[in-house]
Amino acid sequence: MSGVFITFEGIDQAGKSTQIEKLVKRLKKEYPDREIVQSFEPGATELGAKLRNIILHEDAISAHAELLLYLADRAENVNKVLVPALSRGCIVISDRYIDSTVAYQCSGRVLDRSTVLTMTNFATSGLLPDLTILLDITVEESKKRLLGLNADRLEQENNEFFEQVRSGYLKIAHDEKRVHVFDAMADIDKLSEDIYEVVSSVMV
Ligand code: TMP
Repeated sequence: MSGVFITFEGIDQAGKSTQIEKLVKRLKKEYPDREIVQSFEPGATELGAKLRNIILHEDAISAHAELLLYLADRAENVNKVLVPALSRGCIVISDRYIDSTVAYQCSGRVLDRSTVLTMTNFATSGLLPDLTILLDITVEESKKRLLGLNADRLEQENNEFFEQVRSGYLKIAHDEKRVHVFDAMADIDKLSEDIYEVVSSVMV
């Protein structure tokens, strides 16, 4: 596939939306002829939007059912949004992708990692990002940024859950070369400059 696939990851309130917005603006300026497609998980497709509503607002969902809902959403995102855009040569940016599942469902919920990886591979037909930007913040900062917002089911999890998710992300970054970690408590504009530098290194 001729496109470039970039994903953003991090615990809740790490600032992904802000940095994605800044990156898209910069890419439009630097590559005016290139089509940029933005996606997100869960919820980017018609089916995904229904799944997102269930995932974030249903009272209690078992860890196994939750995993399957995320993977159903991802399979739709891959087939209906990501692969068509990458085949057209677009720059594709997704707010969350496979690493969210490993961090939240394996490290947070403690589901078996190798089973989850096999199932994720099935859902995505093996599609991997060219680059993953991991925005790292402390759990205290995440909780602080959440104050006053209407927290969804996942955001209401306790600090221990988020500590596990954060460590899970850092372990993925340690194991996978495509994942670059950024201190998301840094100045917003400096952070976006640093992110762009890494992004430009994967542009084809
Ligand atoms: P969002 O708030 O970034 O849209 O993400 C929704 C929530 O879903 C967030 O708390 C992270 C969680 N999540 C998982 O637990 N597993 C996944 O595979 C994905 C994509 C998200």
